[in-house]
Amino acid sequence: MLRGGKVGLRARHEDDIPILRTELFDDVVNAARAEGGPWRPITPGTKDPRLFTDDTKEGHVPFSVVESEGGTLIGSATLWGIDTHNRSAHIGLGLLPSARGKGYGTDVVSALCYYGFAVRSLHRLQIETLADNHAMLRSAERNGFVREGVLRSSAWVLGEFLDEVLLGLLVEDWKPDAKR
Ligand SMILES: CC(C)(COP(=O)(O)OP(=O)(O)OC[C@H]1O[C@@H](n2cnc3c(N)ncnc32)[C@H](O)[C@@H]1OP(=O)(O)O)[C@@H](O)C(=O)NCCC(=O)NCCS
Repeated sequence: MLRGGKVGLRARHEDDIPILRTELFDDVVNAARAEGGPWRPITPGTKDPRLFTDDTKEGHVPFSVVESEGGTLIGSATLWGIDTHNRSAHIGLGLLPSARGKGYGTDVVSALCYYGFAVRSLHRLQIETLADNHAMLRSAERNGFVREGVLRSSAWVLGEFLDEVLLGLLVEDWKPDAKR
């Protein structure tokens, strides 16, 4: 288990799957805003890659997020697009609605930075998020990510094109204890 502030990042358990499916991926608005593609329902019992982990996929490491105290499931986090030549990767996360706005997102980004930089020896981490996702932008910036650019009208989201912001953090600018 990776620990960071109020959260822990652990492997995906079978019991997590119906909760994440119902509370995160069945929510059309949340899924359409977070996934970068058209929302599609997940049929219970199918091995959808958004929920089921495939440990043979080297470049993609999914975690379930739990509260440090008590171990309650509060969301999902992923280090994806791991590129071992350029030593870079992307960060993605989604918290259950009841867990948002409590500082957990900031702590999840912190734990993913520890995993990416310290455990995986990466050099650069990147986040792409919608320009109006203030909680995500702030969670990233609290951990030292800087805005590197705006991708204008790059995301089709429920009837309109929205801008995305690209944020990056280099290992030399990472302050592991800044948030903890
Ligand atoms: C985005 C997300 C991960 C952020 O996690 P969170 O736990 O809600 O965020 P935090 O509580 O750590 O808040 C981080 C900062 O954003 C601010 N914030 C939180 N919600 C906000 C909101 N709705 N509007 C503006 N600022 C907000 C907080 O005040 C905090 O700022 P501070 O550190 O200056 O006090 C979470 O809200 C979420 O899962 N949202 C839905 C899925 C999603 O958007 N995922 C990201 C896709 S790229």
